[in-house]
Amino acid sequence: MLSVSKISLTQFKNYTFRTFSFSKRVIGITGRNGSGKTNLLDAIYYLCFTKSYFNATETQNVRYDTNGFRLEALFQRGTKDDKIVCTVKDGKKDIALNDESYEKFSRHIGQFPAVMIAPDDAEIILGGSEDRRRWLDSLLCQLYPGYMEHLIAYHKILQQRNSLLKTLLNLSHSPDALLDVFDEQLVRHGVPVFDIRRTFLETFIGQVQDKYDYLAGRHETVAFRYQSQLTDEDFSSLLRTNRLRDKQLQRTTHGIHRDDLLFLLDEHPMKSSASQGQRKSFLFALKLAQYETIRAQKHFPPILLLDDVFEKLDQERVSRLIHLVQGNDYGQVFITDTHEDRLRQAFSAQPDMLQLIPMQES
Ligand SMILES: Nc1ncnc2c1ncn2[C@@H]1O[C@H](COP(=O)(O)OP(=O)(O)O)[C@@H](O)[C@H]1O
Ligand SMILES: [Mg+2]
Repeated sequence: MLSVSKISLTQFKNYTFRTFSFSKRVIGITGRNGSGKTNLLDAIYYLCFTKSYFNATETQNVRYDTNGFRLEALFQRGTKDDKIVCTVKDGKKDIALNDESYEKFSRHIGQFPAVMIAPDDAEIILGGSEDRRRWLDSLLCQLYPGYMEHLIAYHKILQQRNSLLKTLLNLSHSPDALLDVFDEQLVRHGVPVFDIRRTFLETFIGQVQDKYDYLAGRHETVAFRYQSQLTDEDFSSLLRTNRLRDKQLQRTTHGIHRDDLLFLLDEHPMKSSASQGQRKSFLFALKLAQYETIRAQKHFPPILLLDDVFEKLDQERVSRLIHLVQGNDYGQVFITDTHEDRLRQAFSAQPDMLQLIPMQES
């Protein structure tokens, strides 16, 4: 099993310095709004993913008026102890596993898998295609080590190609030779990303359906439609046919950076036609299926981070969810709530499983 036993946060978001110790399988973090519950979950997430679940901008993770933060935690993988330390100072980030710094952060991803379920997740359904790609990518990066490297390389070349397209008017020579090189590299890294996304989504939907039926307490058919320009036409010819257009528009109009996912409920787009309750069931189903997929592949359960689930789900779905995470095939679970009583009540069947951590003002 994978678990965290101790974490220290220094100048991370609202924290000046605090250490937490975790000794049970389920850890309930309670306290009023703004007391730092979500930030603690995010710190754990950070050490697993080398970045915040919530903030893309690193300075938002640094306590106001300071110039850096430090996170240190002890993880257990089976009987093995691992120390992970992350420091960000003056914009420079270092991540070390057992005192050895990584040269590539991508090497760290997937070793300490975690799944976060948080209020903003509704964006996966309601937001733009980039929100859905971000969700899918973060899952696939944990599952397939090569995926992330292809993705990073792809985006780097995409950026270079787009910059070249933007400077075209000032160029005296024709950039076609250079575009040929970029295109070849986009294909080399884009096609594996496309293949992994497509194959993965084909089988993943079955698990989402299972979890949806369980949580909703009834059957409604959920489906994904993977929408990629690469589905019907081979990527190199797409780039070739659209080169003139790309030059005119000064950006790369075709590729996996345009992929999207359409979520369907009984064949209707979920974004426009599902009720709030159905959307919530679907999001939880998505995340729980993600959890189980990672568990099946790694042969141990990921860390589950549940932020404010009691606020989001009705009584019935909450009890189904709690019932699920109490099962033996679940690992360490962190749950935040403003009401200690409610959390205690939810675990009244197995009170020994639960450790409660009340937040004091830091
Ligand atoms: N970079 C930061 N520096 C200082 N405080 C921060 C920073 N980022 C967030 N906060 C503070 O953290 C608090 C929110 O913590 P959060 O974990 O979301 O609380 P909870 O989940 O318990 O409601 C807010 O009061 C917010 O102002
Ligand atoms: Mg919160």
